[in-house]
Amino acid sequence: MIDLHCHILPGLDDGAADIRDSLGMARQAETNGVTQVCATPHIRHDHDVVIGELADRVAALNLALGQAGCRTKIRTGGEVAESIVSALDDDELRAVSLGGGGRWILLEPAPGPLSDGLDDTVRQLTDRGFRSLIAHPERHLGADLLDRLGKLTRAGSLVQVTAAALSDPETAEGMAILARAGVLHVLASDSHSSRFGRPVAITLGLERLWEFPLLSPHVDWIAWRAPEAIISGQDTEAPYSPRVEG
Ligand SMILES: [Fe+2]
Repeated sequence: MIDLHCHILPGLDDGAADIRDSLGMARQAETNGVTQVCATPHIRHDHDVVIGELADRVAALNLALGQAGCRTKIRTGGEVAESIVSALDDDELRAVSLGGGGRWILLEPAPGPLSDGLDDTVRQLTDRGFRSLIAHPERHLGADLLDRLGKLTRAGSLVQVTAAALSDPETAEGMAILARAGVLHVLASDSHSSRFGRPVAITLGLERLWEFPLLSPHVDWIAWRAPEAIISGQDTEAPYSPRVEG
């Protein structure tokens, strides 16, 4: 499997503290059947991440993992804040595209309810040749969330849900509502450390998807085909439509 959202680069944002922590996360991935991990540091005004350094940082981590006998492969990426997209040029966006595929941007909506500003940002990305993978729907549970995600999905976005959010008591019911409405498309760990919080794991979340009749025939697309297309920079369309207005 492929983890599309993981803060595995050491000493960079609020993710892995050091190389030992990164190695611990890569080992968790290995244990959990995750063979490739997109390193997605925060690309946001409050994190001092230099986009031009990311490829070298990923290469250095891959070298260290190989020397440690870990088979997990790290790919480039970024968790790009809605608020910073307009300040990035196309080369910078390509450098933080998921897997280095040049097409898909992991987009972190601004805090608070999803707004027209997110629609505008997605439209801007589309106009510039990118597609959006919307992160963290669990942070925006509100009255119009389904309608907004339905609208964004119809406009070509996909929605990435944190795998652990499907079983976290605080978010599980909200995520189940997204699953039933067909606005859940891929799962990822959003792990920040091997020492606390969510591990680099997706399997438990995937198992929960079998509970949803709309999604269960398409777990293969959710688990493998969509992530593979995303990191390869290819278009892919969900084999199910949103069952919401918008
Ligand atoms: Fe994240």
